[in-house]
Amino acid sequence: MSGISPSAAALYSRVEKVIPAIEWPVFTDDIDAILRLKRERNAVILAHNYQTPEIFHCVADIVGDSLALARKAMDVEADVIVLAGVHFMAETAKLLNPGKTVLIPDMGAGCSLADSITPDDVRLMRQRYPGVPIVTYVNTSAAVKAESDICCTSGNAKAVVESLGVPRVIMLPDEYLAQNIAAQTDVEIIAWKGHCEVHERFTPEDIRELRAAHPGLTVLAHPECPPDVVDEADFAGSTAAMSDYVGTVKPARVVLMTECSMSDNVAVDHPDVEFIRPCNLCPHMKRITLANIRTALEEMRHPVTIEPELSGRARLAVERMLAV
Ligand code: 13P
Ligand code: SF4
Repeated sequence: MSGISPSAAALYSRVEKVIPAIEWPVFTDDIDAILRLKRERNAVILAHNYQTPEIFHCVADIVGDSLALARKAMDVEADVIVLAGVHFMAETAKLLNPGKTVLIPDMGAGCSLADSITPDDVRLMRQRYPGVPIVTYVNTSAAVKAESDICCTSGNAKAVVESLGVPRVIMLPDEYLAQNIAAQTDVEIIAWKGHCEVHERFTPEDIRELRAAHPGLTVLAHPECPPDVVDEADFAGSTAAMSDYVGTVKPARVVLMTECSMSDNVAVDHPDVEFIRPCNLCPHMKRITLANIRTALEEMRHPVTIEPELSGRARLAVERMLAV
């Protein structure tokens, strides 16, 4: 490991199980620059569980699922937040920190769920089902959140739906999440036809083949997977819930039916667990790199802005969720 600056070299021990030594020198210059720029800019990096290990374990200050990132964004004291994740996550951080600079390193880091619905669609649903509350997944634009009554994440969707005390809710835009939550509650759920392009590709046959090839396998699935995939799994939960499951249950062999970097990030902390690694990449999450995080901090780009007309209403929907 010669030629590596001491701070980056020290960090390698965190990720040596998932990043080959031969690849590490590619990252060290950017890591050192990012660590320095964070101090100079009084910045913190919030990273989603799907970020690559060199981001997640080496430069991030706060990591977690969408719910944890939203909650922890409220406690940030730094002047600048860099969101290593997708655009809706950066918007949520901005909604909760209107006075801070929130940067997203690549404006193209979108989400197929967020793209599946517009504010007009939400208004049409409200007209079609008068009086039925609208629960909107955080994987949506601020403009869609502004038309909604309350937000939810995969980590709190059931609690949010049941907190409303009504027999029927509209849940937008993830059809599969809505169906998976409907299976756990007596509340009737009206769904939309949005899908996550990563999780919709998993099938029950994938799980059956994996179980046949790897005896004793524990299968964890994200609730954005189709219901027949969730039925075939041993456990379904948000990215944080899957990570907690591995830490608590410590299965001998596990597969996470979700985005690829999850297994790497969780495996770092659980050397005794064997991770079987079929996974699907999220092209949006993968647009965030050490190089563009560095550029974001050097050039203070790309700052997230939200129209004032929208931000009050969108923030209310997020704050209602956080109060559940
Ligand atoms: P989590 O809230 O479970 O982290 O999920 C976010 C996401 O985008 C999953 O695809
Ligand atoms: Fe969106 Fe799916 Fe990517 Fe999550 S994994 S950001 S839901 S496209």
